[in-house]
Amino acid sequence: MTVRIFVSRDAGAVAVGADEIALALEQAAAKRGVTLEIVRTGSRGLYWLEPMIEIATAHGRVAFGPVTDADVTSVLDAMIADGPHALRLGIADEIPWLKRQTRLTFARCGVIDPRSVEDYRVHGGYKGLERALTLDADAILADVTTSGLRGRGGAGFPTGIKWKTDRKYIVCNADEGDSGTFADRMIMEGDPFVVIEGMTIAGITVGATKGYIYIRSEYPHAVEAMNAAIIVAKRAGFLGEGICGSAHNFDLEVRVGAGAYVCGEETSLLESLEGRRGIVRAKPPLPAHKGLFGKPTVINNVLSFAAIPFILAGGAKAYADFGMGRSRGTMPIQLAGNIRHGGLFEIAFGITLGELVDDIGGGTFTGRPVRAVQVGGPLGAYFPRELFDTPFDYESFAARDGLIGHGGIVVFDDSVDMSKQARFAMEFCAVESCGKCTPCRIGSTRGVETIDKIRAGERVNENIAVVEDLCNTMKFGSLCALGGFTPYPVMSALKHFREDFAPVPARLQAAE
Ligand SMILES: Cc1cc2nc3c(=O)[nH]c(=O)nc-3n(C[C@H](O)[C@H](O)[C@H](O)COP(=O)(O)O)c2cc1C
Ligand code: SF4
Repeated sequence: MTVRIFVSRDAGAVAVGADEIALALEQAAAKRGVTLEIVRTGSRGLYWLEPMIEIATAHGRVAFGPVTDADVTSVLDAMIADGPHALRLGIADEIPWLKRQTRLTFARCGVIDPRSVEDYRVHGGYKGLERALTLDADAILADVTTSGLRGRGGAGFPTGIKWKTDRKYIVCNADEGDSGTFADRMIMEGDPFVVIEGMTIAGITVGATKGYIYIRSEYPHAVEAMNAAIIVAKRAGFLGEGICGSAHNFDLEVRVGAGAYVCGEETSLLESLEGRRGIVRAKPPLPAHKGLFGKPTVINNVLSFAAIPFILAGGAKAYADFGMGRSRGTMPIQLAGNIRHGGLFEIAFGITLGELVDDIGGGTFTGRPVRAVQVGGPLGAYFPRELFDTPFDYESFAARDGLIGHGGIVVFDDSVDMSKQARFAMEFCAVESCGKCTPCRIGSTRGVETIDKIRAGERVNENIAVVEDLCNTMKFGSLCALGGFTPYPVMSALKHFREDFAPVPARLQAAE
């Protein structure tokens, strides 16, 4: 009898020992004379349970976690005997945290072998492309538009509109620089074919034959996974000339960035792809008209492309049926920071921030009260508990001076100093600014200096007014959203946590 065990090869699982567990499992099995097949999958996204390992049984995959080296022998025994164990989590698909999700984009992540296109196909992969190949470009575009899909990179621009008319290149933005986010990495490592399939459908729709995936250099596992999947997809006829025997050609290449937050901004990314320093281009012209190498280009986030196969295979309406208002479908939300149950939670738009943080996230890891959450990356606003009734959708967050961005939520407990966080936002902008425009380049540096004065108790009210003025200039005068959105964390900290901007002695007294 062969025992089939699944161990994640996701960077998050590897960081907490998944490779060592796989090795120890092999050794323990050899000692027992058990024939073992280890399948290295992606992660299911329940990061607090990693390394989480699963065994295939007649009643489904049974999960155990978090497994340490010391547990391997007893876990293997319990797996083989299908018996009890303190780390036994039950049938993986039935784990409430997972079961509560609506996994459309991440349906296969953590389930399949990301190096096997056959496994991808067995789990419904390439059905979207197969259908797309039976349609003309207008019909595919109609599906993408009907689905209501909006770009998952941050700005929430309708993907259907972006894909209208002919384009020369397809570019996938995998720079994923937002704090607390990892969904792009996770899907590239756990289900790379879904990204390839989405990009291929985009290529067919707009008539592009070449695509690039721009991945940040801090993601070596994702680079490896995408490169491996591209080779496999090419061999199987899903990339290259005459895709699946059709008249369509589409090829893909991975390009690795050099680590700058601003290189995630689409025009700066294009500069970097062309081999230059990542400096933001003035818009217009939009990349759709003059993008990579001066040619019309579709540039989308990883998750936007990864949503496409479901839309084509499962139906545009089925996708659009999820969500609220103008935010249709599901959002892979990433719970991070000081949180008990950190991980990836894909669910329809509309769930409240409070449900996500308290109920699903389980509150803070430290066990102290949640005081603030930053939603949408380093340019996102800080939300206090009073705003936890905000539904997770683009418009509701905008109405409360926030943004959902790439879906990252970073939780802070009551030990956080919000004036320090406001200073950090300005400092982040000063460090990451591409330097092209004055409000961002100079404003952020002046912002740091002025917040320092406030924190030192120097003419607090006057300096708060200076910060507000600087924020106004940055918001309306910056060329891109790095300078333009840095005011969001700063102003939200001032608005909701004003007491932290009192002179330090007063704050210390209040804490006593
Ligand atoms: C400073 C800055 C950083 C950004 N970083 C990313 C990023 O890492 N990934 C991403 O997809 N979009 C990022 N964006 C948004 C992109 O400019 C662009 O809107 C997005 O790639 C478009 O794809 P979408 O329509 O699928 O969201 C960033 C924008 C700014 C201003
Ligand atoms: S806002 Fe900042 S990052 Fe954006 S173009 Fe201006 S200087 Fe560059």
